[in-house]
Amino acid sequence: MHTPDPKNRLNDLSSRQWLQFQKSWFVLDKNPVPEFIQFFTKATYEDGRTGHVALYTASLLHENRDELPANRKYISLENLNSNQVADYVYIDLTHIHSNDQLRGAKQKIDALIEWCARNLFERHYITIAARNIHSDNGSQLIAWEIAKWFSEFFLQKDEKIGCRVNSGEAHVEKADGWAPRNTVTYFLHFRKENNAQRKPNFSFPVPEAKETSPLKNEDYPFTDGWYIHRPPRREKGVLLHPAKFPEDLVERYIENFTHPGEWVLDPMAGTGSSLLAAAQCGCKAAGIELNPEFVDIAKSRFADGNSVKLITGDAAEAKSYAAFPQLDYAITSPPYWDMLRMRGSETQKKRKDAGLQRWYSDDPKDAGNIADYEQFVNLLADIYHHVALKLKPGGYLTVIVKNVKKKGVIYPLAWDIVAALKNDYIFCGEQFWCQDDQRLFPFGYRNAWVSNTFHHYCLTFRRRT
Ligand SMILES: C[S@@+](CC[C@H](N)C(=O)[O-])C[C@H]1O[C@@H](n2cnc3c(N)ncnc32)[C@H](O)[C@@H]1O
Repeated sequence: MHTPDPKNRLNDLSSRQWLQFQKSWFVLDKNPVPEFIQFFTKATYEDGRTGHVALYTASLLHENRDELPANRKYISLENLNSNQVADYVYIDLTHIHSNDQLRGAKQKIDALIEWCARNLFERHYITIAARNIHSDNGSQLIAWEIAKWFSEFFLQKDEKIGCRVNSGEAHVEKADGWAPRNTVTYFLHFRKENNAQRKPNFSFPVPEAKETSPLKNEDYPFTDGWYIHRPPRREKGVLLHPAKFPEDLVERYIENFTHPGEWVLDPMAGTGSSLLAAAQCGCKAAGIELNPEFVDIAKSRFADGNSVKLITGDAAEAKSYAAFPQLDYAITSPPYWDMLRMRGSETQKKRKDAGLQRWYSDDPKDAGNIADYEQFVNLLADIYHHVALKLKPGGYLTVIVKNVKKKGVIYPLAWDIVAALKNDYIFCGEQFWCQDDQRLFPFGYRNAWVSNTFHHYCLTFRRRT
């Protein structure tokens, strides 16, 4: 039996066990609650107190009692009468499957929030398990909405994605367009602080009945809610670019959403991965890229320039799109805010040592150089608005992005993009590209949970008709 490390303020795990918890996604094939309790509590705290865990719903306590770690005191939050203090709160809201049910549960959730505000120790954690549901009634962004409510009172620290296999309700039957399967559960983490929080600024579209169209769901075979993708090693020429996405991943999307001969756009084309993928699928490619160096690399990757139109320019300006015909599909990945500018990232250190470029450019029009978060999200919304004007009505757009963590706070960039595009697009759903070929680092060791973010959101939208 491992002896608890007195310097470890968060739990009784060894550094190896800590590392195992660091990955931001996991295959959800067993009850995850015991592991969360082990990570977020100690059996005994410095003052001799036994770790107190509060659970909602009560079934977590009754049905799985044998699986829960011993040496903890458990509190049921079913009736919220308890005024005992808690070291950790786990709230399971996965039974909420629609916005109507969410509205019905609002009072209870408010009461749970109040209970945590009163009884949870400061700098201690809350985990919320919840799901978004994509169905014929539209995308019900339940998990994200609940996160918004909690983040009015607590600091949103991080998220873990539970990826289910063989789930009975996995397949969404839809007759009017694409939706991903509902195979992901969010585990959202909040911490109680002693001062005021950043207030959430996203506001999600209310789901609407999907617009009718002659398309059938079987036209879109790629509906996995999550998948593991291991890109091949990068060719030498494109190593120069700090963050390119793999061509074979983009091909899966292009095959799903286009037919050969159609036009595919990437408004932030980088070194041209999506343009190359489009050509590979027999499509014509259109691209815009601000940095002329990347444009040159992209152009050099095309043997035949006939099926590609690549513009050096700013994707936020209408004139950059003037040369394109009507487009059938767009796929793109923006800078993940100004994260490449943040010091201390291990990848950035390696790139510096190798003499490679660490950010996209010094151009003030480069979205990766905008420090103000709201201004950055608004710029992306502007760019995708220009894309919408060129996209055929009912055409799809896929945006690959991460929620970003900066200075210990999560900025839900993926969710904010969904909220910001609601006037131009209907949100169809999120898929997760999960990485399992990256080295893990024990960030936050002994003090706080900071995951290694190895899941990317692939958000698909449909242009409003
Ligand atoms: C995440 S990278 C895209 C990488 C690309 N998907 C690839 O695989 O090579 C984002 C790109 O957006 C470009 N960019 C940033 N701001 C831009 C703007 N306002 N207009 C056009 N491109 C921009 C950057 O130069 C960078 O190459």
